[in-house]
Amino acid sequence: MTLRISVIGTGYLGATHAACLAELGFDVLGVDRSAAKVDALSRGLVPFHEPGLDELVAGHTASGRLRFTTDLAEAAAFADVHFICVGTPQQSQGTAADLTAVFDVAAGLAPHLRHSTVVIGKSTVPVGTAAELAATLRARLPLGVEAEVAWNPEFLREGHAVQDTLRPDRLVFGVTSPGAELVLREIYAAAIERGTPVHVTDLATAELAKVAANAFLATKISFINAMAEISDRAGADVVALADVLGDDARIGRRFLDAGIGFGGGCLPKDIRALAARAAELGAPSIRALLEDVDDINLRARDRAADLAAAMCGGDLDGRRVALLGAAFKPLSDDVRDSPALHVAAALRRRGADVRVFDPAAANNARAVAPELTYVAHVDAALHDADLVVLATDWPELVALDPGRAGALVRSRRILDGRNKLDEEAWTAAGWAFRALGRAAAP
Ligand code: UGA
Repeated sequence: MTLRISVIGTGYLGATHAACLAELGFDVLGVDRSAAKVDALSRGLVPFHEPGLDELVAGHTASGRLRFTTDLAEAAAFADVHFICVGTPQQSQGTAADLTAVFDVAAGLAPHLRHSTVVIGKSTVPVGTAAELAATLRARLPLGVEAEVAWNPEFLREGHAVQDTLRPDRLVFGVTSPGAELVLREIYAAAIERGTPVHVTDLATAELAKVAANAFLATKISFINAMAEISDRAGADVVALADVLGDDARIGRRFLDAGIGFGGGCLPKDIRALAARAAELGAPSIRALLEDVDDINLRARDRAADLAAAMCGGDLDGRRVALLGAAFKPLSDDVRDSPALHVAAALRRRGADVRVFDPAAANNARAVAPELTYVAHVDAALHDADLVVLATDWPELVALDPGRAGALVRSRRILDGRNKLDEEAWTAAGWAFRALGRAAAP
């Protein structure tokens, strides 16, 4: 019989996971406390931008294999297995993760369970959460019903979420019994058959695997941004440096692009939550390491604003700036903790007239930064600009033609905030070209 699965929490992670499980042939019920989200998804509409997801959700809701509800009792009655995919945002006071939603799900689900089950956590949580969650569940289960907690972290990237979910590069099964491992092996049978490596671990290691992976990626980016700071002081070129480092197979070239740094809903909050957890666990020097990673990252945004001012003769007052990109990364409409918007706001505070263009994120950006001016076409941003700043490396922005752009602006000055533009081509077209880490310190 086909396994019936509930996926609780239908944000980026949950909606993608639910749709991909349906694609794999399971009967899936997505659960969210937001009636608006459930309503949209039930009609086959995805409330955010994720390539390929619309088709999956539309197809599987139409076929009935994928349904959505706000009701945890319905999920308890329907499913053999439950995934927890709710958000764990940064606490409003402090830097630790807010686990309210995760514990609310456990407490809300447990009393409705009528048969023994596995509750599989996917949310990113501080190490130690799963064990606590198991205790919360146990305390509320009806007599004779058992629920094992397992942890199965997700490594999907926004913009590649469907592909990363259907074709993961590794699987982590944090379990406390062979039974839970078997359930996870059944769910991921297709990927396992293709040879995807499976790591069967204890709960703590599985929880930490996710956080550690994100902390490592963040550290890698901050490391190259630290080298960008050194390069600016020493007259070196951080892009050439990254190419050299990247040819060492032990280091690798990916996530070595210096620029205005990382943002989004994951990396910044995850390093802060790990820092807080490290301190709780009595490891203050680990907190210090992660705080330095955070500081270097945030400093890159300020350095970009300083460089922009320097390029305009030290004064941005009244200068028109074309800010290209608002999303925290290309192929996404997500503006959470976006370095691009941070830079835009900093330039505006210094008196610049900033026009922001983004191929997909303008609406979301307007909601969080309504004080900025948004334009619907890149040409409208470039028109009469005194300075162009590439802030998000959307392929179409990286591919801008320097000659055509040059005809629209007032002054040919460009700051490559992502180190992705072809410096030679821009310089040849008469542009003053600057970038962080390319001997361009203000
Ligand atoms: C990240 C991880 O890459 C995923 O593996 C993880 O599953 C996900 O968080 C999560 O926890 O859910 P994501 O936030 O989608 O994924 O974004 P990334 O592709 O990792 O990019 C993060 C940020 O780093 C972006 O702002 C990007 O512009 C920046 N970045 C990336 C750099 O500044 N330099 C680089 O070389 C690479």
